[in-house]
Amino acid sequence: MKKLVVIDACVRQGESRTRRIAEPVISALAERYEVVRYNLPEMEGIVPLDPGLFEERGRGDVPAWALRAARDIASADRILIAAPFWDMSFPAALKCFFEQTSLFDVTFTDDGTTCVGLCKAPKVLYITTRGMDIPTGDPREQATPYLRALGSLWNLGELTVISACNMDYSTPAGIEAKLSACIAEGLALARDW
Ligand SMILES: Cc1cc2nc3c(=O)[nH]c(=O)nc-3n(C[C@H](O)[C@H](O)[C@H](O)COP(=O)(O)O)c2cc1C
Repeated sequence: MKKLVVIDACVRQGESRTRRIAEPVISALAERYEVVRYNLPEMEGIVPLDPGLFEERGRGDVPAWALRAARDIASADRILIAAPFWDMSFPAALKCFFEQTSLFDVTFTDDGTTCVGLCKAPKVLYITTRGMDIPTGDPREQATPYLRALGSLWNLGELTVISACNMDYSTPAGIEAKLSACIAEGLALARDW
């Protein structure tokens, strides 16, 4: 069975609108993929590299969870990232996760002239909800450009974005309608993704 790595950075967990979209999509994909899930809000060690961690990494001493996650990412056939829109990007926990799992000779290496990605997933799905009316690709939206850049470092393929906007300024019915539309979009994608 092919492997789907899910990276869930929905800090509000059960209250998260982003997770409400992601869960049914993950369930549908679980029929065709082995799902390996990283729920960042429930994990310990999702911290930035501090001097101590940096020095340990230099000695080849990487936290076991980070090495395992990096290997899962490198060997994944598909990657799904669920993260709310925070401070015009995504929660810092997700950046910390990437910082800890972006490992030389695991997710990328070099060829003597530049970095070369070692991942193989040809498709990545990013699910998000945004409080303001900011569509994907707007210059104020800095999550998608970062994910594309990291995908280029790691050799990840096509990025698909499912997003709902203006969530903090919509009526309860409007919010529900947007969530339903995103779930339908995700389930349609999941059929042959
Ligand atoms: C800490 C924090 C920072 C946020 N920053 C932004 C922001 O910069 N721009 C924006 O449009 N919405 C922002 N929002 C609103 C969220 O994007 C919006 O409420 C979203 O639907 C939350 O997703 P969730 O329900 O999955 O947590 C922020 C919310 C929080 C809690």
